[in-house]
Amino acid sequence: MSQVRVAAVGDVHFGVDSAGRLRPHLQGLADQADVLLLAGDLTKCGHPDEARVLAGELEPLAVPTVAVLGNHDYHADEEAAVAKLLGEVGVEVLEGDATVIEIDGCRLGVAGAKGFGGGFPGASGSDFGEPEMKAFMVHSRAAAGRLEEALADLDGRADVRIALMHYSPVETTLRGERREIYPFLGSYFLAEAVDRAGADLVVHGHAHGGSEKGVTPGGVPVRNVALPVIKHAYNVYELG
Ligand SMILES: [Fe+2]
Ligand SMILES: [Fe+2]
Repeated sequence: MSQVRVAAVGDVHFGVDSAGRLRPHLQGLADQADVLLLAGDLTKCGHPDEARVLAGELEPLAVPTVAVLGNHDYHADEEAAVAKLLGEVGVEVLEGDATVIEIDGCRLGVAGAKGFGGGFPGASGSDFGEPEMKAFMVHSRAAAGRLEEALADLDGRADVRIALMHYSPVETTLRGERREIYPFLGSYFLAEAVDRAGADLVVHGHAHGGSEKGVTPGGVPVRNVALPVIKHAYNVYELG
């Protein structure tokens, strides 16, 4: 099986004035990677006008492109329109589902979900007390559940599996951020989902001040590809 080259970036935070910010850096993409993953926070505030600028920037797609949305993409309550605009130029936007891309005889499976916060062992929220707190944790569990189902859906259909999300499944890729905000940056439910269902790589964003490299308790490599972390238009990871 040949190597699959996966380019990934998150948190491009496109605004209506961002045209031209990404395109020059995508010129050599097809020579360097087989696929591009976008790990959420694609827009500044989730306005369709912002998504339209990003879609124009990506079109025509240099390589198959798969995305999840981030919390910023939900801010204007227009996440469906954001996803639709990106879909119109061929970007596959995942939320609790998976896609398989055939690359030189290798079936690359990408399972995607935004994820959510909630925290990490010893410092997490719990389903207790006020309805708002319960709702927060129920949403966190459901987000991880959607990811797990999407990964499980790739069983037998993919040679290499990537879990694409916005929030972090582990604390290691948050290092550099204030510990006080870790519960808003990710959830260990996501790592449990990955370790139960299995994956070869986790890609996430959201933690602008975090670190690139981590690993789940089950040993799956995790990469925080938030643009301010990787400081490039994208990083390339080889798998397979
Ligand atoms: Fe962000
Ligand atoms: Fe974010």
